[in-house]
Amino acid sequence: MSAVAAAALFVLPALVRAQDQSSFPETPLASKTFAYPDGIPYQADTDTNLIRGTQAGYNLCNSTTEGDSSMCQTSFLNALDDFCLWAPSEKDSMIADTEGEEVAWCTKPGRGTRIIPDGALQGVQFMRTPDYVQVVGFIDQSKINIQTDDFGGELDPHGADLRGNPMGGLVYSTAWSDSNDSYTQVIEWHNFMGGNAFCFKVCDPSKEHAADYCQHIYDRVGCAYNAPNNAQNGTFESCEGDNQMFPGVYTGDDGQTTTWTQPPESEGAIATMPFTPSVPASSNCQTFSSSELFASASSGASGSGSGGSGSGASGSGSDAAATGSNAASALRVSEGQSVAWMGVMWATVAVAMGGVAVFA
Ligand SMILES: *[C@@H]1O[C@H](CO)[C@@H](O)[C@H](O)[C@H]1NC(C)=O
Ligand SMILES: *[C@@H]1O[C@H](CO)[C@@H](O)[C@H](O)[C@H]1NC(C)=O
Ligand SMILES: *[C@@H]1O[C@H](CO)[C@@H](O)[C@H](O)[C@H]1NC(C)=O
Repeated sequence: MSAVAAAALFVLPALVRAQDQSSFPETPLASKTFAYPDGIPYQADTDTNLIRGTQAGYNLCNSTTEGDSSMCQTSFLNALDDFCLWAPSEKDSMIADTEGEEVAWCTKPGRGTRIIPDGALQGVQFMRTPDYVQVVGFIDQSKINIQTDDFGGELDPHGADLRGNPMGGLVYSTAWSDSNDSYTQVIEWHNFMGGNAFCFKVCDPSKEHAADYCQHIYDRVGCAYNAPNNAQNGTFESCEGDNQMFPGVYTGDDGQTTTWTQPPESEGAIATMPFTPSVPASSNCQTFSSSELFASASSGASGSGSGGSGSGASGSGSDAAATGSNAASALRVSEGQSVAWMGVMWATVAVAMGGVAVFA
């Protein structure tokens, strides 16, 4: 209690100073559209004098920005071998401290971003479903500047102030076009990073329920509840699957469909959940070795194939769902396992925002 009071006193001067500043941009990030590559502005977030400051990086990225110091905030999710993750620009950072400033780390060079270092990815599952595509995987997160023990948090294009996390971050995909050169801007997406794992889902903007499948209000319960999956550490596979339920929505034992409401941080850790999310059926999983997929990521030296290889279609579909080596608490739920893997996140933001409680 007294710690809370002390914290409140501590932030008060900042709030008073900030009173003439607004939190909200004129146009929410999720309402801004730009064609890629020709319509990309230097920055998507051009508001000035807002409480969270200005966009940390830029969206116009090219060969001169590519590499270790890139501040590119234009991201992609195209395929198993071609996606980016949001992560900090400086070593040993916590996601909660840097959520507004994350930059794009990609598997492939060529788009002006940072490149995920060789060997960082330890297992990835790409899933294509009728309404979205997602990647879920295992990563040595220290190699993309996330503190080893950080359980992380959620990035999405909304945030408490509608400027997105990262602010101004844009996402594109070739998943819904016939050509790998034809990009669709993704309006609704979520990316959970932390616990040496990640999930990144982008929803097809032409579909009615894009905002429901890519829901962004369940930031305390991680990948297990937001992107139920059967990704396996050490396995690199590309699959097709059915849609998940909308995050937070479940069918109870009584057959009733219910929407779970995430409790606020002030109520403490989430000790129990009223449901266990089910992993949708999947098929046509093609498995690869990491060196086949990510050879171009390392500049020259190709990885000494980490995961087991095996080409062609493999049957690692739905049967792996039940158990598996369930090391990634962030990725899946097993009985009795804690689901509170990112408690600090919104508490931090709420303080920074002076208590604006719009988790929309
Ligand atoms: C490359 O990107 C940087 C950073 O956005 C920008 O300042 C520069 O004008 C771009 N160069 C070209 C040739 O587009
Ligand atoms: C498009 O990209 C995917 C995955 O990156 C690749 O398998 C496919 O061959 C590419 N298609 C074309 C037409 O180049
Ligand atoms: C995934 O496997 C690697 C290699 O065995 C291991 O070092 C890492 O801890 C595993 N990751 C998780 C999240 O279990």
